[in-house]
Amino acid sequence: MRLTQGSPGARVLAFGHYQPANVVTNDDLAARMDTNDEWIQSRVGIAERRIASDNESEIDLAVQAGGKALAASGLSSDDIDLVIVATCTMETQIPNAAGRVAHRLGVEAPGAYDVNAACAGFCYALAAANDAVRAGSATNVLVVGTEKFSPWIDWQDRATAVIFADGAGAAVVGPSDTPGIGPVVWGSAGDKSDAIIIKDRESFLHQEGQTVFRWATTALHPVAREACERAGVDPAELAAFVPHQANLRIIEAIARKLGADKAVIARDIVHAGNTSAASIPMALSRMIERGEVPSGGLALLFGFGAGLAYAGQVIEIP
Ligand code: UT7
Repeated sequence: MRLTQGSPGARVLAFGHYQPANVVTNDDLAARMDTNDEWIQSRVGIAERRIASDNESEIDLAVQAGGKALAASGLSSDDIDLVIVATCTMETQIPNAAGRVAHRLGVEAPGAYDVNAACAGFCYALAAANDAVRAGSATNVLVVGTEKFSPWIDWQDRATAVIFADGAGAAVVGPSDTPGIGPVVWGSAGDKSDAIIIKDRESFLHQEGQTVFRWATTALHPVAREACERAGVDPAELAAFVPHQANLRIIEAIARKLGADKAVIARDIVHAGNTSAASIPMALSRMIERGEVPSGGLALLFGFGAGLAYAGQVIEIP
């Protein structure tokens, strides 16, 4: 038996993102349920979010974001030989999202699979892409995080309706002589798996907000630090910290404890809401588009959520 020859390293060549057109403000929600702009902004940090229309699926969102990442990478669909989609809101159990996204983008016969690690899903998928390129099982990988949360939300339940939203973000990963994606640090707390749950196809998302909030603000900053340590990077060197956009108070608590003093902190949640696996690539893609972060700078990506699962890695910003 022979082993394949991989690449010494892998890197993100480009990001892309897509949000549905329909903006839902806090006042829109306050007109439908017992909530208000002040509560949502002060407790969660969200001012508005985007909600997809009935005829726009999570596949449609993924195709838009994936197409933009592909165009920005300078590669063509023929260059991609693996597509990984991170999502936890698929409408159908079979078929998966990755094969359909690949087909719609004209990627011929790639490896194609989905990852469900909820809000940590993009970082898991990026780690898998990095490993595949380095091991030689893929040359160029399209990684997409896509979520259509709206059908899984009870729009009468103010505890969840004000938080979750729809969107997609994507990255193209390719070979590199120098490391552009650091070692992943990942883990889970299955004992708390009931804290965020969609019980069955007839159920809406339910979460024990306080349990998740306490866990996120006390248990996760050491993991974020470890992702830096394993990459040989001091948090003070980071140009950007891009955590999952769960709650602005959680983002700021982890950022403070991490000590990423020079980093631009992603606060995409303000205008995007919580889009789970899509939130990290969407946030960074928008930061790059606005020119807020330098190409070649280091960013710590850090996902956490249902499972409870978490994962993070340092990357070089394309
Ligand atoms: O991405 C997945 C990971 N998930 C998370 O990261 C979620 C983590 N948790 C959180 O972000 C927060 O726990 C929430 C935003 C979900 C809730 O904030 P909280 O500060 O923990 O509020 P709470 O659940 O303790 O509720 C406080 C009060 C309650 O009223 P009483 O019992 O004190 O009278 C709630 O009924 O706020 C009330 N409340 C609301 N009031 C107005 C809950 N939701 C709302 C609302 N508007 N939307």
